[in-house]
Amino acid sequence: MQLAPSILAADLADFKAALGVCERGGADLVHVDVMDGHFVPNLTFGIPVVRDLARATELPLDVHLMVTHPERLLAEYLDAGASWVSAHWEAVTHLDRMMAAIREGGAKAGVALNPATPVEVLIDVLPSLDFVLLMSVNPGFAGQPFLPYVVDKARRLRRLIEDRSLHVEIEMDGGIDATNIERVVAAGVDICVAGSAIFGAETPEESAHELRRLAEGGGR
Ligand code: DX5
Ligand code: ZN
Repeated sequence: MQLAPSILAADLADFKAALGVCERGGADLVHVDVMDGHFVPNLTFGIPVVRDLARATELPLDVHLMVTHPERLLAEYLDAGASWVSAHWEAVTHLDRMMAAIREGGAKAGVALNPATPVEVLIDVLPSLDFVLLMSVNPGFAGQPFLPYVVDKARRLRRLIEDRSLHVEIEMDGGIDATNIERVVAAGVDICVAGSAIFGAETPEESAHELRRLAEGGGR
């Protein structure tokens, strides 16, 4: 399991502290939620923030684009230092082209799916992907409750990947905490995003380590 703390849930007046939590908390990736006020109602970070985060940490940045027309600024996000890039199936018209452009730019290419979008829409494009991000809340805000029906989507997606002998990783994002991470990983999820469960805790680094222990079957 790879852990990807979502800095959206951190104190945004102190990005360095948030990166410190990720580093000392044993994160594998730093999840960066880009929202444009169109695809989702909220507005968050853009290219200058991604660039400065990339300069401030050795951890790879996992940039989740919740924007309409994500292809328009893709080159700039790649140049800014995004190592993993996901764009929403619901927002991209030419998905095959977009995924190829991410890979050509040297990053891992992923498709994000809203909770209501079935995983089966990805059957044909799966071989062109490095990962699929399954939203387990409706995108737009940190701190929302986990939608349990998404666990079955992870199981179905894992089956689709294995039946084709592909190496596509599954990321789950939204509402993951100590009460559900074991279920999430058991369903075949490789990468767990966690925002509030880490940054909303009294001891964020310890919470990150605790999530990993639980995900790796350590029990509570
Ligand atoms: C929601 C974002 C998530 C969110 C995760 O639109 O994509 O990454 O910040 O935060 P929690 O874990 O609090 O749901
Ligand atoms: Zn996200």
